[in-house]
Amino acid sequence: MDIKNILVVGSGAMGSQIGLVAALGGCTTTVQDISAESLAAAREQLSGRVDSSVAKGRLPRGDADAALARLSFTTSLEEGAANADLVIEAATEKLDIKRSIFAALDQATPAHAILATNSSTLGSSKVADATGRPGKVCNMHFFNPALVMKCVEVVRHPGTSQDTVDTVMALARSLGKAPVLINKEVPGFVANRLMGAIRDEALRLYADGVAGFEDIDTAAKTALGHPMGPFELMDLVGLDVSYLIRQATHAETGDPADLPHPALAALYEEGRYGRKTGKGWYSYDH
Ligand SMILES: NC(=O)c1ccc[n+]([C@@H]2O[C@H](COP(=O)([O-])OP(=O)(O)OC[C@H]3O[C@@H](n4cnc5c(N)ncnc54)[C@H](O)[C@@H]3O)[C@@H](O)[C@H]2O)c1
Repeated sequence: MDIKNILVVGSGAMGSQIGLVAALGGCTTTVQDISAESLAAAREQLSGRVDSSVAKGRLPRGDADAALARLSFTTSLEEGAANADLVIEAATEKLDIKRSIFAALDQATPAHAILATNSSTLGSSKVADATGRPGKVCNMHFFNPALVMKCVEVVRHPGTSQDTVDTVMALARSLGKAPVLINKEVPGFVANRLMGAIRDEALRLYADGVAGFEDIDTAAKTALGHPMGPFELMDLVGLDVSYLIRQATHAETGDPADLPHPALAALYEEGRYGRKTGKGWYSYDH
């Protein structure tokens, strides 16, 4: 199926940039949010980004203007859904919110439309049964910042059709991304699991007194070529986010190995969340 019209639901950190990625890729794109303020902020931020790409010579002015002309913003789900070939849902990470969005999309979109979720933690099987078209539902998981990061994880649930997978993979390629097909819904999918394994090993090495966290970060950067060490990355993402994800994973699996590492829990309990609070593993001047 040829995807021409895209609806992005949610205009926060992810939805706004996914909207511009789709418009730059030639799709007529609507970004919808229940919050008019969030839409206004998204519109302003995206036009600022486009202007700075033009100023740096990375984007011709004509292409930028054409992309912005293909991009619209609305608070009405029905308006954006009416002619959508594909929807990327990037709303708040709460299952009840996502299920009600998917039920509404099922009513408001044409029968051929694919309904994808950008969720990092909820497999699409959790929303597919809120629709009458589970075969057309999957995860299309972009990474932050979506305008920059190439990886898109396309995750099928047991009922996702091959046609849906093929269409979403092809769309991601046409948007200049490098799609990765994931055949099973596992917590964290692939990239975040890899990152989690490195983070867990880093925490073990540190807690066992094998090396200081600064030295572990140095090894990751200078021996493995990572742009950032695992402790620096935890500070950037937010130690609260890392902690809460582990709690959520543990709630799902019941496996004590999934609980947050005690060294991470200790910082979380002290309110040291990383860059956002000025202190995490490292200290930051605001
Ligand atoms: N932030 C990340 O690094 C990241 C990375 C990959 C994937 N994700 C996923 O992307 C999704 C969005 O995350 P985010 O960081 O952009 O969140 P965010 O909080 O920045 O934005 C969420 C937006 O959804 C809107 N919203 C809430 N309920 C809605 C509804 N019923 N209809 C329409 N809009 C609604 C909110 O007003 C808000 O603007 C989540 O599912 C998350 O798991 C996030």
